[in-house]
Amino acid sequence: MRFIYNIYKQFAALERQHLRKDVRRGMTKVVIMYDSKSGNTEAMAKSIAEGAKAVSGVEVVLRKLGEPFSLRILDDADALILGSPAHYGHVTLEMRDFLARLRGAQEAGRLELRGKIGAAFGSYGWDGGVCIERLGIDLENLGIKVQSPVLAQVPPLPYSALKEKSLNECRNLGETIATKALKQ
Ligand SMILES: Cc1cc2nc3c(=O)[nH]c(=O)nc-3n(C[C@H](O)[C@H](O)[C@H](O)COP(=O)(O)O)c2cc1C
Repeated sequence: MRFIYNIYKQFAALERQHLRKDVRRGMTKVVIMYDSKSGNTEAMAKSIAEGAKAVSGVEVVLRKLGEPFSLRILDDADALILGSPAHYGHVTLEMRDFLARLRGAQEAGRLELRGKIGAAFGSYGWDGGVCIERLGIDLENLGIKVQSPVLAQVPPLPYSALKEKSLNECRNLGETIATKALKQ
């Protein structure tokens, strides 16, 4: 009985997704959600958004964790891109909490992320690249078809800033994801 109920919930979530796409008259939606404390990952998120927006027929939604927003904005998303800085060998607490909420909503049949396109991105100071790669695995475990992540190293000392090369990689990631989402 539980099995049939779960199938029904998944079907209902998919149905919602398709209906909303109809309402948007075929626009492809790329959602970028990120955490950032000192602005590096935020600059990356904005460059990804810039790259995705450059693809015609694509609308981009950019949200920072901590701002109020509904998970409903993911219902009709074709792509989900998540970004976080490395904090003590992990993505931030806020991002971990957010991932748990996505898992919970999907398990409860209130959200369907399976089959969407996605990617992870983020910045780190010294050894944190692996956290961002793990974020990609978390997305994969949610059933998302994940592209290669973009990682940017910004060593804290001496003062350094995000390099234009990293921001260009972000623009390319945005464009690649948007183009794939448009075709699927
Ligand atoms: C509390 C704290 C913990 C951090 N832990 C790590 C870490 O474990 N590994 C690492 O490579 N960088 C670490 N960093 C560096 C940040 O990941 C890096 O500065 C990043 O670019 C910050 O991104 P943001 O500007 O988007 O907040 C840490 C920074 C802070 C403030």
